[in-house]
Amino acid sequence: MVSDSSTGQSHASGDPTAEDIERAWSDPKLANVIYHDWEASSYDEKWSISYDQRCIDYARDRFAAVAGTEGWPYPKALEVGCGTGFFLLNLKQAGVLDEAHVSDLSPGMVATAIRNGESLGFAVEGRVADAESIPYDDATFDLVVGHAVLHHIPDVELAMREVLRVLKPGGRFVFAGEPTKLGDWYARRLGRLTWRATTALTHRTPLRDRWARPEEELAESSRAAALESVVDLHTFDPRELAATALRAGAVDVRTTTEELTAAFLGWPVRTFEAAVNPDRLGWGWAMFAYRSWQRLSAVDRVLGRVLPQKLFYNVLITGTRAR
Ligand SMILES: C[S@@+](CC[C@H](N)C(=O)[O-])C[C@H]1O[C@@H](n2cnc3c(N)ncnc32)[C@H](O)[C@@H]1O
Repeated sequence: MVSDSSTGQSHASGDPTAEDIERAWSDPKLANVIYHDWEASSYDEKWSISYDQRCIDYARDRFAAVAGTEGWPYPKALEVGCGTGFFLLNLKQAGVLDEAHVSDLSPGMVATAIRNGESLGFAVEGRVADAESIPYDDATFDLVVGHAVLHHIPDVELAMREVLRVLKPGGRFVFAGEPTKLGDWYARRLGRLTWRATTALTHRTPLRDRWARPEEELAESSRAAALESVVDLHTFDPRELAATALRAGAVDVRTTTEELTAAFLGWPVRTFEAAVNPDRLGWGWAMFAYRSWQRLSAVDRVLGRVLPQKLFYNVLITGTRAR
């Protein structure tokens, strides 16, 4: 079931008009709706998202890395900025939570997440919702999660206060997959270099016939990518992010970071996947990329003992609502 409980202020419904797109340049929430509605149907393919053991392990390990395994399964959980449901649905499959609720500013994403849930045999309730004003009563959930969403929200402290409000006393939040300041700097540069090299190679050489992504798909990616600069609002210093959560009223706040050498591999790999004909890369490629990422992540866990948190690409944060 989907319902639209958002404020409506910033939302375009259906296909965006030229006027909506123009307005989106100065309205990050509208830009988020347009950009993520465009992406909803191709998002899982673009980011190699699946609902099998590979992504179940990935989601479970991210959660456990910052919040441990105590309290599983959380009886009632909400994801904010759910996208296609990648984090919550895989956490559910991993046994981290029972009742699943999804929310996102983008109606297209909420519909996709519910569909993905249904295809896994789960009854998932979903609402179109802004994380800055979450349309649920106080003390509704035992767990609130988010993945790669905080950096899109204009007022992160307000969103954290909302998350704490809808949590039951003692309830936990976990946000993962947020870019650090330095991580974002090197990831963007690596991504740009890979995109230029890959598209040059696949469009100007004999590889074109088999490897090039169709021009219309590249044009669509470029159109969406142009709005990316508007939807990505923040990068985080782990200590400042923890301070934001504490100011919002959270207790037992903890951050961790991950991916350094893994990000040096991961960003070129993801960009390469988006730039070439997906038919050329199959399951073997996905497993090769994931296994290589896993090996480098193991190296990064060792490096994490000696290097400062802020050097790593991803920051994860957890905390609880006071009892
Ligand atoms: C980078 S995507 C991540 C999606 C998904 N969590 C994942 O990891 O695959 C960010 C998502 O946050 C949503 N979003 C952006 N701003 C939001 C807001 N203010 N409130 C709720 N969701 C928001 C977007 O629509 C998008 O689906």
